[in-house]
Amino acid sequence: MKKIIAANWKLHKNPKETKAFFTDFLSKVPVAVTREVVFFPPATSLEKTSEVLKSSPVKWGSQNCCWEVKGAFTGETSAEVVRDLGGEYILLGHSERRTLFHETDEMIGNKLKIVQELDLTPMLCIGETLLERESNKTLTVLRLQLKKGLEKANLLRPLVIAYEPVWAIGTGKVATLEQIKDAHFAIFQVLVELGFPGRTPILYGGSVKPENAKEISMVEHVSGFLVGGASLEVPTFLKICNI
Ligand code: PGA
Repeated sequence: MKKIIAANWKLHKNPKETKAFFTDFLSKVPVAVTREVVFFPPATSLEKTSEVLKSSPVKWGSQNCCWEVKGAFTGETSAEVVRDLGGEYILLGHSERRTLFHETDEMIGNKLKIVQELDLTPMLCIGETLLERESNKTLTVLRLQLKKGLEKANLLRPLVIAYEPVWAIGTGKVATLEQIKDAHFAIFQVLVELGFPGRTPILYGGSVKPENAKEISMVEHVSGFLVGGASLEVPTFLKICNI
């Protein structure tokens, strides 16, 4: 199975910067044949993304969506529009959405359902805070986020999980290989227990850089990366894609 290298741009890059990035990236990227490369630009740059990536093997999606495709939901993004523009993925439950925008597991579960119904692939983010890790609750938290977030999921449709320890996101602190191995194995076990295929990809995210990507990629049950800061510059992100 192809490794998945996903880029979460958060609130970075306007349409002009998006176009410049992809023009440069596409001119240098034979990797897309052997890797599934997925970009999550901010909502205001999705149309430009759709236009520039149209006939390329590079995939894209939105960083969030509503649990309904239309209606009175001011400020939301419709997964149906993402699909109609050619997007294939939706990032769900990122820790910044959970913390800053108060998204609950229930909301995330409802979003996941609509994403799968639209034939898009949800990339569900889960992860523990530092306090949870220090009080030995990591596996309990991961299990709960998976169970609730996947409550309405269709076992037969595509799904990607991204394990992102909250304390490793944007901090430069990366989890140890041992911590990654244990978390990914636990996630794998819960997925199988819930009836999902054992081959469901589980990505690691949290301060992934060219310097640490190779050793993390060799950990069992790591199927790729979700990259934030290191995905914003073409040369740096290409190094990670080429590992
Ligand atoms: P980071 O972000 O790579 O900058 O730590 C990862 C993420 O938020 O998905």
